[in-house]
Amino acid sequence: MSTPRVFIARFIPEEYLALVRSTCQVDLWPDDLPPPRDVLLERVKGVDGILSLLTDKIDSAVMDAAGSGLKVISNCAVGFDNIDVSEATRRGIPVGNTPGVLTDTTADFAFALLMAAARRVVEGHNYVQAGRWKTWGLTQLLGQDISGAALGIIGFGRIGKAVAKRAMGFDMRILYYDPMCEDDPYAAQISARCVDLDTILTQSDYLSLHVPLYKDTYHFIGEAELAKMKPTAVLVNTARGGVVDPDALYRALRDGVIGYAALDVTEPEPIPLDHPLLSLENVLIAPHIASASVQTRGKMIEIALANLLAGVRGEQLRHCVNPQVYMTDLE
Ligand code: DGY
Repeated sequence: MSTPRVFIARFIPEEYLALVRSTCQVDLWPDDLPPPRDVLLERVKGVDGILSLLTDKIDSAVMDAAGSGLKVISNCAVGFDNIDVSEATRRGIPVGNTPGVLTDTTADFAFALLMAAARRVVEGHNYVQAGRWKTWGLTQLLGQDISGAALGIIGFGRIGKAVAKRAMGFDMRILYYDPMCEDDPYAAQISARCVDLDTILTQSDYLSLHVPLYKDTYHFIGEAELAKMKPTAVLVNTARGGVVDPDALYRALRDGVIGYAALDVTEPEPIPLDHPLLSLENVLIAPHIASASVQTRGKMIEIALANLLAGVRGEQLRHCVNPQVYMTDLE
C-alpha cells in the first residue's frame, strides 16, 4: 500500500504532527489564514484525507477535486456546518469532529460574555480609557443583576447543559428549549424547566444559544423572536452566527427592543468593520474564541489528527458525524 497523502488546511505546531508524519505524506498549509478556494481545490488533488477548519468550505467541488481516493474529512471543530455531510455520506466518506473536549471551555466563555454584557465590562473599560471617569457615580454604567435572573438556554445539549451548571452557582432560574425536551434527567436534577419557544423568549432575562447551524436553525432568532424578548434582555451567541439574523438584531438593539447582545460568532465572519452592529454600544463581539484555551485547542487538534489517521487507515473514526457510512459496510 502506498503512503497515504493528507492535506492539513491550517498551521498546526510540529509537536502534534509526529505520528501523522510517520505514517502519511503531509501537505500542511503553513498560514494562519485559510487557503484561498482555488488553492484548496488544487492542494486536495489525489489526497486520502483532509483536515479542515470551520472556515474551510468542504463541498462536492472539493470532494471531486480530491477524487475517488478521499477516505476521510476530519474537521477540527465540534460544529460541521462548513461541510456538505450528506454529500460526503453519499460518497461513503466519514466526517470527523471534536466533541466533548470544548464543552466546558465554550460554556465558560458563554458565561463570561453573559457577565460582561450584564455588568457592562467592556463599556466600563472604554469609559476609563476615554478619560470619562471623573467620580464614583450613583447612576453610572448601571447593568443588570445576574443572581436570581432567568436564563433561557436554546439547545440543551452538552454545552447548553454546561452553561446551566454554571448558572446554578448564580442562583439563576433556568429555562430551556430543545426538541428533545422531555424527561431530561440533568434538567430534573437542577430544576431546569423545559418550555416552549414563546415562553423562553418572553421570560428570559438572558438568552444563550447552543444549537448547531442547520437549514432549520438558520436565522432562528429573527425580528419576530426578538420582538417577544424583554427590553432589558441580553442575547448571548456562542453557537453559529447564522442562527441569528444580524439585520434584525441590529434594529432590535438600536431601537431598544432588547437590551444587549454578546456574540462570539457573527454572520459573516469576520464581521466587516463597517457592519452596523459595530456602531452600537450595547453589543460586545468576540472573534469566535469560545473554545480558545491552550488546553482545549490542543485536545481538539489531537482528536482531529486521530480522526484523520483512522480515516486514511480505513479504521472507524473516534468521533464521526455520519456513522451511516459504516452501517452500509455491514449490509
Ligand atoms: C466549534 O468547534 O464548532 C467551535 O465553534 C470552535 O470554537
